[in-house]
Amino acid sequence: MADPRAEASRRRTFAIISHPDAGKTTLTEKFLLYGGALTSGAGSVKAKGDRRSATSDWMELEQQRGISITSTVLQFPYRDNVLNLLDTPGHRDFSEDTYRVLAATDAAIMVLDGSKGIESQTRKLFEVCRAREIPIVTFINKWDRPGRDALELLDEIEEQLILEPVPISWPVGDGDRFRGLIDRQSGDFIRYTRTAGGSTEAPEEFVSAERAEAEEGELWLEAQEGIELLDVTERDFDAKRFQSGELSPVFFGSALTNFGVRLILDAMVDLVPSPSPRVDREGDPRPLEAPFSGIVFKVQANMDKAHRDRVAFLRVCSGQFDRGMVVTHEPTGRPFATKYAQSVSGQERETIEQAFPGDVVGLVNANDFRVGDAVYVNTAVQWPLVPAFAPAHFRIARTLDTSKTKQFRSGITQLDEEGVVQVLREPDVGNQAPILAAVGPLQFEVVQHRLENEFGAPVELVPCSWTTARITDTNSAEKLRGMSGVTVTARSDGELLALFESPYWLQRLEMDQPELTLTKLIAEGT
Ligand code: G4P
Repeated sequence: MADPRAEASRRRTFAIISHPDAGKTTLTEKFLLYGGALTSGAGSVKAKGDRRSATSDWMELEQQRGISITSTVLQFPYRDNVLNLLDTPGHRDFSEDTYRVLAATDAAIMVLDGSKGIESQTRKLFEVCRAREIPIVTFINKWDRPGRDALELLDEIEEQLILEPVPISWPVGDGDRFRGLIDRQSGDFIRYTRTAGGSTEAPEEFVSAERAEAEEGELWLEAQEGIELLDVTERDFDAKRFQSGELSPVFFGSALTNFGVRLILDAMVDLVPSPSPRVDREGDPRPLEAPFSGIVFKVQANMDKAHRDRVAFLRVCSGQFDRGMVVTHEPTGRPFATKYAQSVSGQERETIEQAFPGDVVGLVNANDFRVGDAVYVNTAVQWPLVPAFAPAHFRIARTLDTSKTKQFRSGITQLDEEGVVQVLREPDVGNQAPILAAVGPLQFEVVQHRLENEFGAPVELVPCSWTTARITDTNSAEKLRGMSGVTVTARSDGELLALFESPYWLQRLEMDQPELTLTKLIAEGT
């Protein structure tokens, strides 16, 4: 038996968040290149078609829309470590999904486009990270292009995200004249050389300050001025403040040309915490060396058209996972034999034999598993409940082909269990016309597409006028049912949700009848 604590200390589990086009896919590829996990060179996966298969954009809809919805996991070695990179959906409409994935990570890299700075979805996804209180490493990408002033970008991070940016590296030159980076701690100048198409690692040369000044002249002096200004503002790295999400180490670079990629990978190993004991529902940490336990953070069906199966992704929280072991599914108390344990990267599946805290295991046909569930061996554990986000968009789903009612129902149940949307039912209407509730409207497109393509059940999704939902209880529900402008529904997890058309009306009701239970759901980005 390996020592789970020692194995955990080698692991880093993180996600990348970014506004579309900032360079998440490119950076992911470069991580694989530097991890030695991309033998044919990043250039070979640069072509758009192939490139998609390098990551998780495998669903048709994702390809059509150029968005990434589903999450997969890449594991690659770096130095003596094992890095687990969890992919998150790229669009804010799926921020609830991102939130669930972040429950399984210990940190996130926020990628910014150096010519754009913070964009709308960067902010949204950042807020989701903040809600999860995970440390964030910032990568300012595309420095090989004419961009914005480095100090101005730092100010933007500080002002807009209320996050203290602390540059760990500092660029010498930019655009065509981007020469390399100064490692602020050592003072070294790392000069890079471009390689054809960025398909191999960028050669690095460590240059002394004297030589750098002589050889880089003006660019070097400008960089020094920037660093002096940073020194005045005392932007120093502080591990505690990083881990509590107050401060973010900042790296500059260019994923395309590989400049700075090694530095950020080094940071993942040197700065990001390794998996630590996870706190259970009672608030007690479960030691890493405790018997095996894991948390389900994602359920995805029909990933592979040929198999049409269902995979539950779990992050190992304690102990050692061995394929074939029988684990207990906490909510049902049922045993589950883990014969089909896989790592899933896009459509590639490989059998996993062993896993340790921080690793992700895909369990095939774990049909009862839901997001947030605990699985364990020997000593039972429950994890804190994963809150559902407040839906702001509602549709009534109706089948367009009554001969497909059965498929329609099983499809809705499946998508509900995966957490693609929240499914609500009015007592009188029931299963005929469930109400779908979403954080963002793109979720409905996924539902419609999947119902039609995977279940053969074409649907119409009828827009509704509700805008806000509150959780209520049986007593209040009775009173609310008698009022106009409010509809009481039951969510499949048993919660009662009151839906309101007018937020003002709701506000008044809250003031006039404070005895009613109207609990807010977690808002997007709080
Ligand atoms: P995303 O996953 O965050 O959406 O971004 P992605 O990596 O797909 O990158 C978006 C575009 O930005 C791509 O160009 C990519 O080549 C480019 N890019 C990424 N990193 C850098 C960088 O460091 N410097 C420069 N100059 N460009 C970068 P594209 O034209 O959309 O695609 P492609 O045809 O180049 O593949």
